[in-house]
Amino acid sequence: MKKIHLLILCTLLSILNACKKEKTIGVITEKAMVVSAREEASKIGSDILQKGGNAYDAMVATHLALAVVYPVAGNIGGGGFMVYRNNDGTKGALDFREKAPITAHKDMYLDSLGNVIENKSTLGAHAVGIPGSVAGVFEVYDKFGSLPFTALIQPAIDLARNGITITKKQANSLNNATERFEKVNTYKTVFDKKWTAGDILKQEALAQTLERIRDFGKDGFYKGKTADLFVKYVTELGGIITHEDLEKYQAIWRTPISFNYKDYTITSMTLPASGGICLAQMLKSIAPYDVSEIEHNSTQYVQLLTEVERRSYADRANYLGDIDFVKVPIDSLTDQKYLNKRMESFSWEKATPSSEVSHGKILGYESDETTHYSIVDQFGNAVAVTTTLNTGYGSKVVVKGAGFILNNEMDDFSSKPGVPNVYGLVGSKANAIAPEKRMLSSMTPTIVEKDGKLKMVIGTPGGSTIITSVLQNILNVVEYDMGMQASVDQPRFHHQWLPDVIRMEPNGFTKQIKSKLESLGYEILERNSLIIGRVDAILVLPNGQLEGGADKRGDDAAVGF
Ligand code: DON
Repeated sequence: MKKIHLLILCTLLSILNACKKEKTIGVITEKAMVVSAREEASKIGSDILQKGGNAYDAMVATHLALAVVYPVAGNIGGGGFMVYRNNDGTKGALDFREKAPITAHKDMYLDSLGNVIENKSTLGAHAVGIPGSVAGVFEVYDKFGSLPFTALIQPAIDLARNGITITKKQANSLNNATERFEKVNTYKTVFDKKWTAGDILKQEALAQTLERIRDFGKDGFYKGKTADLFVKYVTELGGIITHEDLEKYQAIWRTPISFNYKDYTITSMTLPASGGICLAQMLKSIAPYDVSEIEHNSTQYVQLLTEVERRSYADRANYLGDIDFVKVPIDSLTDQKYLNKRMESFSWEKATPSSEVSHGKILGYESDETTHYSIVDQFGNAVAVTTTLNTGYGSKVVVKGAGFILNNEMDDFSSKPGVPNVYGLVGSKANAIAPEKRMLSSMTPTIVEKDGKLKMVIGTPGGSTIITSVLQNILNVVEYDMGMQASVDQPRFHHQWLPDVIRMEPNGFTKQIKSKLESLGYEILERNSLIIGRVDAILVLPNGQLEGGADKRGDDAAVGF
């Protein structure tokens, strides 16, 4: 009798398991799609496409809408990166990363004893880099835009003026930040109150700033009244940003990193974003293995990715920085022979401690050259944009009278060699602070092609975990044949050389897998609320339809037609 009960139980459990593994399918559309952190922003972008706008028009509209509906990371006071692919196959990238003020210097976050001053690079006016988002939006618009600019910015102005509805997740996030908003600002900002889901947030000062941008273009932000309010308030808070800093800011078109992984061509962001180089290193290090034969998210899978990630982040810490300021041996770092050599010390039998892994010896320096949303339009153009204020609500400085939040991107520099930043990342001279230099980023907006055709548009926030989240999603689709939403839903893990731990999302990995990893010498960190990335991606299905992957870890949504 007992045996029969056990048999029934086992059968039920296996049915349950099979159900759990059933593929979740994301929003599917025929022609066009926008996937972003908020449904309102995705819809605004999609509406622009429906009115005949292209992916670049939708980029402008979505970016500006996110600055209103998603203040934790959407922004005009931050920066980011865009990778694009036009329907004729041409590709490119835009760097609208923040940069250090003209009077910034290497030791600006150190005390007289040479120690890093707590919070100085993360909280308040000293943490702010010169914002690049507005310059970025205008670069994109001037090069590729097709609809009148007013039509692209007006939805954001209306949202700011009429108000947005706060979600439960937003209420929690805003409530957690209240104390810091109050500590940093000299007046009561619109964000200071106890929030509950369903509350309306109106941002009149932001609406007026957006109107100045509508009426005066880039100068509506970097010059005139907005710039006056910006500089006045930052100065009042003890910061060092001047009118000259704002006026000199320029977004830069860059050649993205492009490489092959098996049958796929991957195009991702180059420096000052480390994403493309690290992604190339990781995927090329994995390429010699028959990945699809390894069970997904099994002990061996976690081992292989961890060891590849460990080695790449060690190189990142030593070699990578703003390409306009330091020589970075990109070709050598992404050379297949070099990467194979780096993996020679990998063993399935035991973890390679990070203390035994330093940066690799590269073949030589070559010459001198030097909240994510995904969009596919009805013409076949694709853009991947990752943008941020850095940590949630950035520096918490809300420009008085202008209503926008300033980033704390200066913390992405290495304040002192070997001292970790807010993401635990360490850096070297390559990422030291210098006037007008751009801080190293992990952002990884990425486009994947197969047989010369668009296959996937992908990216995510998540600080140092951005690169490894993008990596896992690419492997989910190309090696394990997952759909986009099923891929995004998978539990994720992350290793970044230092600290020498594997971070794992809770409940995603069995006790057996974790114990086995521990017995091989891996340290595992699994916290209840740990979320790794919020991936927003689009997959082109074999029949040409688009499948959205909108991350349920946030309020993210795919909208299209
Ligand atoms: O550029 C970077 O790498 C970071 N400032 C990104 C910050 C981020 O993704 C925050 N999101 N959780």
